[in-house]
Amino acid sequence: MFGEQKVSYSGVQPSGNLTIGNYLGAIRNFSTYSEKYKTFYCVVDQHAITVRQVPAELRRRTYETLALYMACGLDPEKNTLYVQSMVPEHTELAWMLNCFTMFGELSRMTQFKDKSAKHSDNINAGLFTYPVLMASDILLYQTDVVPVGIDQKQHVELCRDIAERFNQIYPDTFTVPEPIISRSGMKIMSLADPTKKMSKSDENTNAVVYILDDRDTIIRKFKRAVTDSGSEVRYAEDKPGVSNLMSIYSCFTGKTIEEIEREFNGKGYGDFKLAVGEVTADALAPVQEKYHALLADKAALEAQMKKGAEEASWYARRTLSKVKKKLGFVQLR
Ligand code: TRP
Repeated sequence: MFGEQKVSYSGVQPSGNLTIGNYLGAIRNFSTYSEKYKTFYCVVDQHAITVRQVPAELRRRTYETLALYMACGLDPEKNTLYVQSMVPEHTELAWMLNCFTMFGELSRMTQFKDKSAKHSDNINAGLFTYPVLMASDILLYQTDVVPVGIDQKQHVELCRDIAERFNQIYPDTFTVPEPIISRSGMKIMSLADPTKKMSKSDENTNAVVYILDDRDTIIRKFKRAVTDSGSEVRYAEDKPGVSNLMSIYSCFTGKTIEEIEREFNGKGYGDFKLAVGEVTADALAPVQEKYHALLADKAALEAQMKKGAEEASWYARRTLSKVKKKLGFVQLR
């Protein structure tokens, strides 16, 4: 809470390749948050370096990620969009919060356990303290709500624990945030294995539809999607493939499941899969067009980054100065 305004905060990895699952489950709804909250969206390049990055690629993806979120409907006039490394208060607060976070707490983070198993040659301290940087992202803005995927829930809970611990010693420092987990009803499944969530890091690229896939690719991927035995377009637990495609069709068209069942009554899977591909491609076309236009004007994107960082800094500096005062640091005016 900043003044009278409730705050929503979310961080996004500069990884480009977002899927229609990310789009339908989260990004598409982001723009509605700005009606209710003061909203911040941060491209978390400092988080990205916990695993090795190719510098030119990280730089390129930072521009791309900002452009993609704007293309998906995040209006920079209504939301503060910025890049983490441009607001040094994040890493500064992270150090202080490190001193209020327990080794044992960080050891229990499942993402740390997974990532250190995957990158066993590079289990660096940053990978370990990553949730503390995330907590400082959130707490700097006196955040009330954090819209995240279920995989980040544990990190938000740790952030709450850190905030409560700090407030216990130094009262009224931080707002204690709540996670908002995107509804599982919106969960989009893999096209190759509909019992598994669609994941941007799936090795089988036919299983995943990316927001930036071109029309032919989208239609081809849906044509190849795994369906179930039988031929009826019907939503059912024992038909996870067709049901997933129906959810996607429903999300993009706004039609209900019953309407879709009626529309494809007597038609086969082939017709249906083509229709899903077409509505997906149609829905993504304006997003892609906007994305390419934004990306073509780097100077405008940089101006946007600068404006976003200045806005964010204003809030971040207020919280950081309060923390320093509470901790007993001498601050010169
Ligand atoms: N850790 C998050 C992820 O991997 C990204 C993130 C960083 C974040 N800082 C955040 C999300 C603050 C919400 C709030 O997806």
